[in-house]
Amino acid sequence: FNLAVFISGNGSNLQALIDACASSALNAKVTHVISNKKAAYGLERAKKASIPTTYHNLVSYKKKHSEDTQTARTEYDADLAKLILDLNPRPDVIVCAGWMHILTLAFLNPIVEANIKIINLHPALPGEFAGAGAIERAFEAFRKGEIKRTGVMIHEVIAEVDAGATIVAQEIPLKEEETLEELEERIHKIEHGLIVEGVRRTLAQIIR
Ligand code: GRF
Repeated sequence: FNLAVFISGNGSNLQALIDACASSALNAKVTHVISNKKAAYGLERAKKASIPTTYHNLVSYKKKHSEDTQTARTEYDADLAKLILDLNPRPDVIVCAGWMHILTLAFLNPIVEANIKIINLHPALPGEFAGAGAIERAFEAFRKGEIKRTGVMIHEVIAEVDAGATIVAQEIPLKEEETLEELEERIHKIEHGLIVEGVRRTLAQIIR
């Protein structure tokens, strides 16, 4: 099975997938990495693993549409879908791993039409802390005594942010004396295991 991985930053989850494929823990291959950030360290990780990469740059779309963000985003997403559909080999699954760009129907429709699955890693439990900064917001809620645990989930991507069907989720108990950095460290370690499990379950659903 072929995986295309979308990243925006460090790429530690991408690395977990690269390693799982290399050790045959996953019966898959990362065949392309897309980043919306030029400086994403995950691009270096892909290059080190001889995986083709594409930097898909939203800035040029915003310039072209002189700040009409809506049109810029629609064209950006439509072109991203075309880019994916033109890949050879075409991915079976797109994995959003630390991908910080909301995908609209301009991307989702053609991809779903082509029977390519899209899944996303989000460091919160289903229905909680959707959007960016989820770990920080869980940490604050814990400090205020509002929650005792947070979690991580892998879910199917739909037009609503962090809201598709849950594929796998894991609860993470919060600890009194823990700093935000220590919590983030603990969460990222759990992400690295869960993203492999999420891909494994997704591949198991694909009947070729
Ligand atoms: C994850 O917590 C992701 O949800 C957030 O950043 C982390 C991904 O990091 N956006 P990495 O790029 O996979 O290391």
